[in-house]
Amino acid sequence: SEEQPLAGTSLLLTAGPTREALDPVRYLSNHSSGKMGFAIAEQAQRLGAKVTLVAGPVSLPTPAGVTRIDVESAQQMLDAVMAQVEEHQLFIGCAAVADYRPIAVADNKIKKSAESMMVEMVRNPDILATVAAHSKRPFTVGFAAETQDVAHYAMDKLKRKNLDMIAANDVSKPEQGFNADSNALTLYWDGGSQALGYSGKSDQAKQLLLAIAKRL
Ligand code: PMT
Repeated sequence: SEEQPLAGTSLLLTAGPTREALDPVRYLSNHSSGKMGFAIAEQAQRLGAKVTLVAGPVSLPTPAGVTRIDVESAQQMLDAVMAQVEEHQLFIGCAAVADYRPIAVADNKIKKSAESMMVEMVRNPDILATVAAHSKRPFTVGFAAETQDVAHYAMDKLKRKNLDMIAANDVSKPEQGFNADSNALTLYWDGGSQALGYSGKSDQAKQLLLAIAKRL
């Protein structure tokens, strides 16, 4: 319908950062607050979708009517997503997943001694690319967080990860992207693009979902 264009659709969504453990008390992570992903969850629910939100460690309340699964690491996020993916027609990867994790997690707290230390890292699985390559793949939407050549890198990720749509944000700009309340997404799909302008994350989320609903 006009008001609930996502009625009958189920959305699986990731949000927030991941934490990659170094030892029992330390981790590597990033500045994602979860605000963008939680705004998408809330707006999707309002637009009629059944929403499952896989969230990294964030301090945000669960939007009304949304099913939430909390995870910490990229591997845990991948496991939660793949356990759910066949039940959903739409996937949006908004999480800032750590690209690398320490190659080993120390059993005990690492003691300081030398003036410098090396941490060897290993690539994490790519959750978005794994979803897009699945045999029963949902309509798959990714994000691209870039600090330069935003359009070029976003369109490269759209093709390389075999996505249906990508939402790009320039995270070098103040008051946009990581931890901000506003954003200025540009959407790309095969054969088209749409700049959403600068607005609050709820408005960005709604515009993104309406653009997806037209192409589902
Ligand atoms: O959480 P906020 O504070 O509100 O900030 C919002 C945001 C800036 C985090 C969000 O708008 C955003 O851009 N999210 C994607 C961040 C990111 O990791 O972008 P990327 O360009 O590195 O990754 C591209 C895509 O691949 C993303 O959809 C990401 O979820 C996915 N990915 C990346 C690596 C990986 N190992 N697995 C993935 O699924």
